[in-house]
Amino acid sequence: MKKITIAIDGFSSCGKSTMAKDLAKRIGYVYVDSGAMYRAVTLYAIEHECFKDEKFDSEKLRSMMGDIHISFKFNPETGRPDTYLNSIKVEDRIRTMEVSEKVSIVAALDFVRSEMVTQQQAFGKEKGVVMDGRDIGTTVFPDAELKIFLTASPEIRAQRRFDELKAKGQEASFDEILENVKERDYLDQHREVSPLVKAEDAITLDNSHLTIDEQNEWLMQQFKLKIKN
Ligand code: DC
Repeated sequence: MKKITIAIDGFSSCGKSTMAKDLAKRIGYVYVDSGAMYRAVTLYAIEHECFKDEKFDSEKLRSMMGDIHISFKFNPETGRPDTYLNSIKVEDRIRTMEVSEKVSIVAALDFVRSEMVTQQQAFGKEKGVVMDGRDIGTTVFPDAELKIFLTASPEIRAQRRFDELKAKGQEASFDEILENVKERDYLDQHREVSPLVKAEDAITLDNSHLTIDEQNEWLMQQFKLKIKN
């Protein structure tokens, strides 16, 4: 059966990675979390002191870009790929608050984006890939056969994050989370290089009132329609 490229873009905390990962598993495709790559570069920048005394030295990071190698390895326990930075597993360390707070700055740099886009295109060279992010259907794979633009209201996304933190026993303020969701939306949409925009040929799904099973079923239908043609 012919393999296609699937691009899933959208706002933060919409459930893109859940959707992309579940589909990839079901259809035997490779799943690539492009946000994890920007997070890994950010971790490298933190560990190599590009952030110092409230200042960010982007030239230092630029000079080190050739030393940053990101890869993924499937973890059968979690059913999803773990992120590796220069052959060391960093899956947990890229999800900390410190990385989350700084990643928007790093992801806005043109030299970081061009390097990540080149690596992402190499991952998708053979097709049979599901990649999620912000610019996959517009910049990374403008010719992807199936493009999804995922959205949900800021309040619903904030509630989901609030519930997740509560379930982990962490303190959380709904109002603060909502503020953060709105701020990240603004940054993603107003960045100069590759801002978050819906590709013209992307199909929009607002999953505000869908369960995970319902959205997975919807995506599976879209996939079946594409491979039939
Ligand atoms: O999806 P996420 O929260 O893990 O993404 C981390 C950051 O990387 C977020 O600030 C948006 C940015 N990003 C991006 O600019 N382009 C992508 N293709 C994926 C993520």
